[in-house]
Amino acid sequence: MSDKGNQVWGRGIKMGIGAWSWGDRLFWDYGKSHDLDDVREAFQTSLKGGVRLFDTAELYGWGKAEKVLGRQLESSSQPVQIVTKFLPLPWRLTRGSLVRALRGSLERLGQEQVDLYLVHQPWPPVPVETWAEALADAVEAGLARHVGVSNYGPDKMRRAHQVLARRGVALAANQVEYHLLHRDPERNGLLAEAERLGVRVMAWGPLGQGLLTGKYSPENPLPGVRGLAYNRRLKEVQPLLRTMREIGEAHDKTPAQLAISWVIAKGPMPIPGAKNGQQAAENAEAGRWQLPADAVAALDEASEHLA
Ligand SMILES: NC(=O)c1ccc[n+]([C@@H]2O[C@H](COP(=O)([O-])OP(=O)(O)OC[C@H]3O[C@@H](n4cnc5c(N)ncnc54)[C@H](OP(=O)(O)O)[C@@H]3O)[C@@H](O)[C@H]2O)c1
Repeated sequence: MSDKGNQVWGRGIKMGIGAWSWGDRLFWDYGKSHDLDDVREAFQTSLKGGVRLFDTAELYGWGKAEKVLGRQLESSSQPVQIVTKFLPLPWRLTRGSLVRALRGSLERLGQEQVDLYLVHQPWPPVPVETWAEALADAVEAGLARHVGVSNYGPDKMRRAHQVLARRGVALAANQVEYHLLHRDPERNGLLAEAERLGVRVMAWGPLGQGLLTGKYSPENPLPGVRGLAYNRRLKEVQPLLRTMREIGEAHDKTPAQLAISWVIAKGPMPIPGAKNGQQAAENAEAGRWQLPADAVAALDEASEHLA
């Protein structure tokens, strides 16, 4: 492996921030529930709180989220880490389409290189191996410092790892859904296999896309498209939220903070989304706190049948 391939990515990074809502209207109501000023505050507050990794994708707001993040980067001289993603759309059939897409992302972000470039989904028809070769091309072209995948199960992750290893490039990360209401990565061997291969697991949706914040209930359901996806779960999560409130009261922490620190305690890097400065500050504080082992065990038990 080259020096580049041997660097272990993200070991010292406890958490990042998800920037999907910074420009996405359909799912996250950008322009209605929050605007550019809120994003600016979320960005600045995260930096002040020690959170320096920002996760976006070309998909988010169809490029808008990358542009909004790019505007924040323009106005800041602080060191940050940027993660973005390639979407294997069905008409993207050749290896070269990944590097072309990355160039588009870099232009929207106003950057010459990203820290981490991920294949967003292992979608057919193009095999995992072809996109892994393309990721290595992106590193060789100097457009991405590190590369990884997202939503890959253990087998596909292993296959991508093998192809990259042959090119002397490390598979740095696998970004998957992981939170108290979705614990598949613990059960399907993903976390163990990532550990074995030296792949950093990033956890998307650590707040259950709002369900774990405690602010939604059958009387106050989630809005819009999110409601269609999640409102059916509002009743069943209430006992877990009660446990989270009890533990939170003992430690002066909110349910959102417990949800984030539970992921950190399990090992993966949570990347909670935040729409404004207040959410960003609260979430960043969770990253500076350690959830005690008895609280981890209590949350494991309370979420066991839900996840
Ligand atoms: N790789 C993938 O396939 C994939 C998929 C999904 C997401 N992601 C990435 O993962 C990131 C995080 O996931 P996510 O944004 O989908 O879900 P999430 O982090 O579980 O939830 C974020 C939402 O929760 C609410 N919230 C955040 N902090 C809060 C707080 N302290 N108190 C109360 N409410 C709070 C906000 O929405 P409201 O205020 O409107 O409730 C916020 O937009 C995304 O931004 C994206 O970068 C990746």
